[in-house]
Amino acid sequence: MTPIYQTSTYVQEAPGKHKGYEYARTQNPTRTALQDALASIENGTHGLCFGSGMAATDAVVKLLSPGDEVIVSDDLYGGTYRIFTKVFANYGIKFQFVPMGDASSISQYVTANTKMIWVETPTNPLLNIIDIAAVAAIAKAGNALLVVDNTFASPYLQTPLDLGADIVLHSATKYLGGHSDVVHGALIVKDDTLEERLRFIQNSCGAVPGPQDCFLVLRGIKTLHLRMQRHCENGEAIARWLRNHPKVDRVLWCGFEDHPNHAIAKKQMRGYGGMISFTLKGDSMADALKVLSGTKLFSLAESLGGVESLIGHPASMTHASIPADERAKRGLSDSLIRLSVGVEDIEDLIEDLNQAIG
Ligand SMILES: Cc1ncc(COP(=O)(O)O)c(C=O)c1O
Repeated sequence: MTPIYQTSTYVQEAPGKHKGYEYARTQNPTRTALQDALASIENGTHGLCFGSGMAATDAVVKLLSPGDEVIVSDDLYGGTYRIFTKVFANYGIKFQFVPMGDASSISQYVTANTKMIWVETPTNPLLNIIDIAAVAAIAKAGNALLVVDNTFASPYLQTPLDLGADIVLHSATKYLGGHSDVVHGALIVKDDTLEERLRFIQNSCGAVPGPQDCFLVLRGIKTLHLRMQRHCENGEAIARWLRNHPKVDRVLWCGFEDHPNHAIAKKQMRGYGGMISFTLKGDSMADALKVLSGTKLFSLAESLGGVESLIGHPASMTHASIPADERAKRGLSDSLIRLSVGVEDIEDLIEDLNQAIG
């Protein structure tokens, strides 16, 4: 096993003559092993690890300067929305949140100041799909960087660098770690200049992970393919079961043949994953809360991507940082329930949902 190099500094042979490692904010061998592994599974050439997904997001936005503009998919993780609107907007960076279901419509928002396009696909929590290759072409034409948050798909299901993205971002807290025991973030690129700029930010700002956390993510990605296969199988079985349930209204899962962007999902993904959102008939918040507190195997918790199944309520949990009127505009209704389907026995999972929905 890769050792956990629990060290803050490294002995040097002579002043100015070190053995590849000087100080652990800059480099750590356990982190290097993970960064290389992440670059490999995302088909990139460089990986950069951070203390959380948000720290990775923070580093990417620090590539920008006041006056720069970012076009962002309008359905995204609440914490990403928060750092853009409540932190970086104060530094003069402009964020435009736009629907990206039809990628060709993005061109109208590109200006001379557009320096970045930010995409999450599948989106959180509405499971919309954005055409990465089409957005990459628009970004390239406008000389903007395309960032893809690949947290929901994982590199097992989707490799955005192959589709023209410049930067892949992960909350490795989720599928990469896979066991709900570590908070971690990562960036993967294949351009040397971009790597150099991000590495400078990583070292200068210092939001780096500890070696124990890198070890846990390294351990997690060894079973990523096995876990993702089961997440996909269980996800499909539950999506199809929910769709036939008399009390369930809409089921959002990109594997359905009639999902608005199913053809794009089929083209750019190798499976549809274990994330599902659904609403109940009558759209009552009280009914939704009853389901949320009625499951026994699905744990009520924020986060996703672990082997254990989780159930969550985006409006009051992961997406509470988005104002209510903004949530309503985006179709994120108060009765929407999100499932992160784990790898447990499928019959147990369905039985649990059945007794909770009633
Ligand atoms: C899609 C997505 N991106 C980024 C993040 C932020 O990652 P972290 O919680 O590791 O900081 C999350 C967290 O839920 C997420 O779901």
